[in-house]
This record gives sequence, structure tokens and C-alpha cells, in this order.
Amino acid sequence: MKRIQVAVPNLSGNEKKYVDDCLDTTWISSNGKYVKQFEESFAQYLNAKKAISCCNGTVALHVPLIALGLKSGDEVLVPSLTYIATANAVRYCGATPVFVDCLRDTWNMDPVDAERKITKNTKGIMPVHLYGNPSDMDAVMDIAKRHNLFVLEDAAECHGASYKGKMAGSMGDAGIFSFFGNKIITCGEGGMIVCNDEKLDAAMRQLKGQGQDPNRRYWFTEVGYNYRMTNVAAAIGLGQLEHIDEHIAERRRVADWYFEELKDFTEYIEFQKVTEGAESVWWMFSVLIKDNVKISRDEIMRIMDEKGIETRPVFYPMHVMPVYEDKNAQCPVSEYVSSRGINLPTHALLSREDIKFICDTLKSCILG
Ligand SMILES: Cc1ncc(COP(=O)(O)O)c(C=O)c1O
Repeated sequence: MKRIQVAVPNLSGNEKKYVDDCLDTTWISSNGKYVKQFEESFAQYLNAKKAISCCNGTVALHVPLIALGLKSGDEVLVPSLTYIATANAVRYCGATPVFVDCLRDTWNMDPVDAERKITKNTKGIMPVHLYGNPSDMDAVMDIAKRHNLFVLEDAAECHGASYKGKMAGSMGDAGIFSFFGNKIITCGEGGMIVCNDEKLDAAMRQLKGQGQDPNRRYWFTEVGYNYRMTNVAAAIGLGQLEHIDEHIAERRRVADWYFEELKDFTEYIEFQKVTEGAESVWWMFSVLIKDNVKISRDEIMRIMDEKGIETRPVFYPMHVMPVYEDKNAQCPVSEYVSSRGINLPTHALLSREDIKFICDTLKSCILG
């Protein structure tokens, strides 16, 4: 039986050629031309001044939080409906992630709930552009301005999306991306921080490179980290970036096919709504199973798996898991979306027939 996976990378560009070049020239560690080229090309793509490569997206969140001065006793507003890394990075600094509910339609951070949860200890806000759908950045930036908060955009899932003409990840004090194997572009494991401030860039570059003085080798002026990306990873990343427009177009095509197949089925399912003024890159096309459906979300996923279709549940909210359990968090919408949401296979190698098969299977599960 053919298995349809949720995510498959498309490595059909110069990735292999560039990796071979790393091996042939022995430049396989974090020094080497691909790291610089990947950073410069990524910054250019995002219309940002600076891009700093890291070994994954999680540490790419940690570095700006340190550089922005986050410390023990501080609080950061984080959506409850996200991947664990967003909250963990805050905790690495000894600070507290304060969980904010999501909007019912876009599944992104609810600005009203965010503002309600601001205290005298709040230092920052981290909008997450969930599943490729940019957050309402006008509202986020407005809150940040009025309450003097930093904004760190978690764009780990959102390469190439835009909000009112601006690239996701380029609007806050800093933004970060992940290049894990299931992302829109990948280098296996990798991350990138982007920012427009030279001082912040210098501070973050030093932190990710063991705290070494930029003008004096082996001279350390602060406790830093080895969060560097290898030249091999950057070589793959550059090969991917050269074709990012095609990778995004492929996802938009898949999303269009899902909409077409499921448009007459909205009595039973709901789509994740694209934020007003935004263009989503559909990292994971996702649907919500409505209340009138009798079969459970998990049972639907089990049957689809039996038929050879891999799906994923929408993330568990942070505040319900043992690591961050908070009975007073009050994020009912996140709990609802999490309990009824399914990520469907979304990648370039899916055919029109695959999408029809996935949708037909989903429909027959629901109709019984
Ligand atoms: C929203 C979000 N933030 C952060 C990360 C962390 O990235 P990485 O897995 O590269 O460490 C991910 C990755 O999956 C993510 O989805």
C-alpha cells in the first residue's frame, strides 16, 4: 500500500552539488562560504538587514531573547497554541512564558487576550505564525509600542509569507525561522535569526559563537553558546532558498486542491482562516472537525492512517501539558482548536489524485 506522508522535502535543486563541494573542499564545519552566502541571500529574500544562521530554530529563539535582555523574573506573552520550542526558549532565560489564547478563525495569538495578560513584569511578546499563516502584526506591534515590549516573531513555520506587503519574520525586533526537514525550506536541522538593527545583530552573532570577541580570536568577553550552523547544512539551505518561490507555489497549489475538494463539506469541517492582509504559505494545511461530527478527531486520524494517510493532530496547548501546566491560563479557544484540528499532508510531491484520495477518505470517515 502506498503511504502518504505529512511532509517530504523537495531536494531537487543544487543541494547535492553544494554538499559535494563542501566534502570535496573539506569545508564541513561552520566556517565556509555557504554559511555566509546562505545568511546574505536569506536576509535579501526577507528584505531584512541581517540574518544569522544557527544550528536549529529553537536556539535561534534563545539567542535574541538573551540579547534583548530577558532574565529571571521577566514574563513573555506566548501563544498557548504553538510548538514547545517557543515556550522553552523563554524558560532557558529563566523567564516565564505567559500563555495567550488564540483567535477562533486564524488560530493565531488573540491580541485582546495578550493585552489582558500584561503585568509589570512583561518584557516581550512572541507572535507565532502558525502553520504558515502570519499573525495580526498590526495589533501585535501596537500592543508592543504602547507597553514598551520587544517583539520576537516566531516564523519557524512561515518562510516567505507576507503581512500587508511585509515579509513574516521581518517586522519585529527580530524574527526566527526553522529549517527542520519538514519545513518549507530545510537544511536537515537549522535555524535563522533576522533583524534590522546592527547592534542587536553583533550581540547575537557573538552569543551564538561562544561569546568570542569579534575582533580578537580566542578572547571571550561573555558566556556564549556554540549554536553555529555547519557549512554542509548551509549548502543544503542555499540550494533550497534558490527555489523558495517554487516551493511556496507548490504548497499553494496543494492548498487550492484541498479547498476545491472540501469546499462543499464545510457543514462538517472548518478551514484555518488566513489573517486579514496576509498571504499564507500553507506550511501545513489543516482543518477543524466541527461539533456536529459524531466520530472523534483521533478516530478519524486512526482510520486515515490505516488507509495509508499520515496526519497530525494540531499542537497540544502549552498550558495543558505537564511541563507548563497552568490551570489558570484560560485559553479555551486553544483547547478547542487543539482537540478538533488535523494537519493534512502538505508537500510538493502530492498529486491531484493524492489530494482527492485524502479528502475522500476524510469525508467517508466523517459521514460514516
Ligand atoms: C513554531 C515553532 N517554533 C520553533 C520551532 C523550533 O525549530 P527547530 O525544530 O528547528 O528547533 C518550531 C519547529 O518545528 C516551530 O514549529
